[in-house]
Amino acid sequence: MVKMTPPMGWNSWNTFGPNINEQLIFEMADIMVEKGFPAKGYEYLVIDDCWSLKERDAGGRLVADPEKFPHGMKAVADYVHSKGLKFGMYSCAGNLTCAGYPGSFEHEFIDAATFAEWGVDFLKYDYCYHSPIIHGKYLYKRMGLALENCGRDILFSACSWGADETHEWIKTTGASMWRSTGDIFDTWESIKSLAKQQEKLHPYNGAGCFNDMDMLVVGMYGKGNVGLKGCSDVQYKTHFSLWAFLGSPLMIGCDLRNMSQTSYDILTNEELIRINQDPACRQPDKLIGIWNGDDILIYEKHLAGGDIALGLFNLREERAGVKVNLDEMGLPASTGKTLEMTEVWTGEKYVVKNANIMIDLDAYDCAVYRAKVVDL
Ligand code: GLA
Repeated sequence: MVKMTPPMGWNSWNTFGPNINEQLIFEMADIMVEKGFPAKGYEYLVIDDCWSLKERDAGGRLVADPEKFPHGMKAVADYVHSKGLKFGMYSCAGNLTCAGYPGSFEHEFIDAATFAEWGVDFLKYDYCYHSPIIHGKYLYKRMGLALENCGRDILFSACSWGADETHEWIKTTGASMWRSTGDIFDTWESIKSLAKQQEKLHPYNGAGCFNDMDMLVVGMYGKGNVGLKGCSDVQYKTHFSLWAFLGSPLMIGCDLRNMSQTSYDILTNEELIRINQDPACRQPDKLIGIWNGDDILIYEKHLAGGDIALGLFNLREERAGVKVNLDEMGLPASTGKTLEMTEVWTGEKYVVKNANIMIDLDAYDCAVYRAKVVDL
């Protein structure tokens, strides 16, 4: 399957871990639609690890755990589809999944056929317990090929955490997205570290195969499977802004049934989603800025149609000033042009007058602009 903009949806792992079942998935499908997430672009509902029995059946096929999914997976897929959503599942390139359930190694084609039969539209494919001899490239190529030949359009979401130089070979496998980081946790340190780890991988992101910075922790507030300390609203705002700006798939990980209004507003910011889903999917450029020092990230991205997105991120624990010059965006004064900026969280507008942008940001905060090129 070919996907030209970053996939968006919800995944069960961050909040529910192994505690998944049919009722939960039905409720999540209901609330996703009730809250209007599909209209914002969130289309996939994905069940992560721990959905199967520990043994395959006599025919070598995976079996959904009848206690968790009493009507089988086809019934779950049918329900999700009846809501207008797409249905995602999980397997692994190893003998076992990360939580110890059967993996798809040496069962790639039979598993792809099973997923197709159940009506699956998305497969997250993990890397635990993989062969120490066969390179990851070949393991992902097998499943990529199995999915392309299974008779159903199934998005292939590779999850080898960037290991074994994933960026060098992942585009050979047919994956539409690939985990370019280790696992996320619901802490500011985790968000900051994943954003920084990503810096050297931006050249590999682009239309058709997206760097996946892992599922969002927005709205978890320390509750659930990867909960830990939790984050503040401003930290969640910056987390979402970074993931969206940098072109990561946007997979929500909190419990949608009892989310706060602020979390909802963060996850549905239309202008940020528009930047994330920009049809050009250009590489974001990390700008140098003017004397900003450590832990200030400045990114710029040229958008389809000529606008520019600019993101200023203060990863420090204290308020900081951020300065950047338009030269770095391709707009020196000699062009006779400047920028008319609109901030995506506040709607505030202004025109840059002297080629410099100077913004004060609170601790952990960010500002993201969509800017038009106008006459000086
Ligand atoms: C790995 C993945 C996670 C999640 C778990 C499930 O750690 O990176 O995203 O899928 O496995 O066991």
